Amino acid sequence: MPRTARAVIDLDVTGPVISRHLYGHFAEHLGRCIYGGFWVGEDSPLPNVGGLRADVVEALRALSVPNLRWPGGCFADEYHWRDGIGPREERPTMVNTNWGNVVEDNSFGTHEFMALCEALGADAYVNGNVGSGTVQEMSDWVEYLTRDGDSPMARLRRENGRDEPWRVPFWGLGNEAWGCGGNMSPEHYAEEAKRYGTFCKNHGDNVLTRIASGAPDDDIRWTEALMAAITCRGCTLKPEPVFQAISFHYYSHSGEGINTVSATDFTDEQYARTVAKALDIDRVIRVHSAVMDAHDPERRIGLICDEWGTWWSVEPGTNPGFLYQQNTMRDAIVAGLHLDIFHRHAERLRMANIAQTVNVLQAMVLTTDDGRLVLTPTYHVFAMNAGHQDATRLATSILAAPTLACDGEDLPALSVSASMREGSARDGSALVSLTHAGLDGDLEVAIDLRGREAMVRRARVLASDSVRDVNDFDAPERVAPRDLEASVDAGVLRVTLPPHSFATVELELGATTF
Ligand code: AHR
Repeated sequence: MPRTARAVIDLDVTGPVISRHLYGHFAEHLGRCIYGGFWVGEDSPLPNVGGLRADVVEALRALSVPNLRWPGGCFADEYHWRDGIGPREERPTMVNTNWGNVVEDNSFGTHEFMALCEALGADAYVNGNVGSGTVQEMSDWVEYLTRDGDSPMARLRRENGRDEPWRVPFWGLGNEAWGCGGNMSPEHYAEEAKRYGTFCKNHGDNVLTRIASGAPDDDIRWTEALMAAITCRGCTLKPEPVFQAISFHYYSHSGEGINTVSATDFTDEQYARTVAKALDIDRVIRVHSAVMDAHDPERRIGLICDEWGTWWSVEPGTNPGFLYQQNTMRDAIVAGLHLDIFHRHAERLRMANIAQTVNVLQAMVLTTDDGRLVLTPTYHVFAMNAGHQDATRLATSILAAPTLACDGEDLPALSVSASMREGSARDGSALVSLTHAGLDGDLEVAIDLRGREAMVRRARVLASDSVRDVNDFDAPERVAPRDLEASVDAGVLRVTLPPHSFATVELELGATTF
């Protein structure tokens, strides 16, 4: 007997715009993310554009990457930007103490990062150094990047070959100040964030969204201290906030902690616990939002999850400091669940960045040094979901669905989200995403489409025989999207989802029915 689920999508009940920045990325000087991943250098035998690996850029362009965070992570708080400008052969080296103690030659620096953003069509999210840098150093970096006209830093930039300032919309004030960013208390860091934020100026028409580094997971002491530092309860004249967003980080695993369980060899129980952990980000966003609502009911300050993803043990035989892991349908399910939850919190959650884009943690693409590349299952989820970027959220509800057992608890085995784009007065389109986390057999889903006429334009599913399947260099398309049968009859959308699968249905919308 196939299992069934029932849901409702109100095609005429719209919510906020799902910011494209919820589909943001993160690239750190860590393992083979930058070197060997994004950057091979101009003299490489691999096809490259000014040193940027051509196949990686091409694969990522298909995802419409909205923003890219760089240079870290923990690396950001030991990075000194002046080491990464000027002739490459003259740049000083340093030791990357966080990630494998390898020597960093600084051949990928500010100009190379901005060229990468341009190649991807992504906005730059530069993460400054609070932990071991100075206010002056950070202030100068902002000036170097964004100042037009004559100024010491604009002159230095021109000496290094770039006349025009760049546009940098996002600026991070340190990273994980509670740990690798300086082991500070929330109250101490809140003062530091104000001091650093004050001297990161808007030059010309470049307006920075300054992002204070916030909590690990649900540690709301960070959100509370940061909000208290920039808001004033009861003030009639609201102070202009020194930073405009607060971040938190959230990694998923199977309950044993990060870095301990294989990416590919896991039990069904460990799978279920991973689903539980992925779903729990909903509660985490809720608690941070509740604190923020109390200080800032007008939602002037954004919440940002600028590191999220799965964190497994490294692939056997690889450098433990490089965090290179494989990526299965379990990772794709985590991505599908997270993205649905992000859509649901679009009112307060303004950006999210998966960690990390290439060859590190829950990557989009994995590469070899001899020029091979595979797209991971997580890549396909991002590609299939790209239509939600900057679309308007629709109201969805699940009326009945099977559950997934996890340590005596029942987790919902189905997650749904939807968004729409208006066309002319009578038409438009909608995108429906469905994540089926269950392991036991097909799931027949019936969705009552209320409020508008609709027909299926295209449906696709990402599924594989085993939830442990991966794409590797021998079988790069083992897990790939294929067409899915879907129909709308009498206003009801019907699809059958294989176990542990992710699907999208594109709808063409017609006249209102109500
Ligand atoms: O993404 C890997 C690391 O995880 C980052 O450098 C750090 O911010 C976090 O702890």
